[in-house]
Amino acid sequence: MTQPFGSDYAESYDALYADKDYEAECDLIERVLRTYGEGKIASILDLGCGTGNHAFPLSRRGFEVVGVDRSEFMLDQARNKAAALGRPPPDHFHHGDIRDVDLGRRFDAVLIMFAVLGYQIKNADVTATLRAARRHLSAGGLLLFDFWYGPAVLFQRPSARVRVISSSGGKILRASSSELDTNRDICKVRYHLWRFDAERLLSETEEEHTVRYFFPLELDLFLESAGFASVRLGAFPEFDRDPDESTWNALYGARAV
Ligand SMILES: C[S@@+](CC[C@H](N)C(=O)[O-])C[C@H]1O[C@@H](n2cnc3c(N)ncnc32)[C@H](O)[C@@H]1O
Repeated sequence: MTQPFGSDYAESYDALYADKDYEAECDLIERVLRTYGEGKIASILDLGCGTGNHAFPLSRRGFEVVGVDRSEFMLDQARNKAAALGRPPPDHFHHGDIRDVDLGRRFDAVLIMFAVLGYQIKNADVTATLRAARRHLSAGGLLLFDFWYGPAVLFQRPSARVRVISSSGGKILRASSSELDTNRDICKVRYHLWRFDAERLLSETEEEHTVRYFFPLELDLFLESAGFASVRLGAFPEFDRDPDESTWNALYGARAV
C-alpha cells in the first residue's frame, strides 16, 4: 500500500479525472469571486493544488496562481505541465503541508478544491488548514472550498466502483471500495490501480484515501474560529441551489474577517 497520491496515482491522475470539467469549475470559481469579492481579485493561492488542474485555466484567465501540495509526485506533474505551458511558472508550485504552510505573503483568494479539506481528518487538522488559509488572506479576502456534504454521504452511502480509462498508449483500470466510519465522519476509500500499455501490465498499486465529510454547522464553527464569516454554502457545481441529500459535493464560500 503506497501513500495517497504516490507516483502511479499521480501519473494516472489527469487521465483518471479527464471527465471532470475543470474549465466549468473555474467559470464558477471566477463567478463566485467576482460576485462576493471586495475589489479586484488578481492573486489566488491553491491549497492542495495537485497536478494544477485549477491553476492552469485560472492562470490562462489572467490570475496569478500559486499552488501548494505535499505530494512531490503530483507536483512533478504540475511543474512538467507548467514548463510546457509557460504559466504559471513551475516555481509557483510549492511543496508543503497546507496545515502549516506560510508563504509569507497574502493573496486575494484561497482555493481548497476537490475535497482537499476532507483529507484533513482530525479537528486540529481542519482548524490548522483554515488558519493557514486565513493567514494568506487580508480582511475581505475570499476562501472557496468544496467538500463531501455529510447529509448526502449518509443518505446515499458510498459504493464500490470499477472504471476503465483509455490513456495515451494504453489503459488504466481502477477499482475502488469504501468503508464508512460514521463515528468519525470519515470514509476510507481503497483504490486498486492497474496500468497497461498496448500489450502488458506496467504497474499495479493500492492506495487508501481517508476522506472526512462535513456538516454545515460544524463548518460554520470551524470557519468562525479560524477568522472567516460565511458567504454562501451551495451545491457543487450547481452553486445557486441549496445542498440536500442528493448533493454529494457542496461548495462553501467564506470571507476573511
Ligand atoms: C483529490 S486531489 C485534488 C487536487 C486538485 N486540487 C484538483 O482539484 O485536482 C487532493 C490533493 O490534496 C493534497 N493534499 C491533501 N492533504 C494535504 C496536506 N495536508 N498538505 C498538502 N497537500 C495535501 C494531495 O497531495 C492531493 O494532491
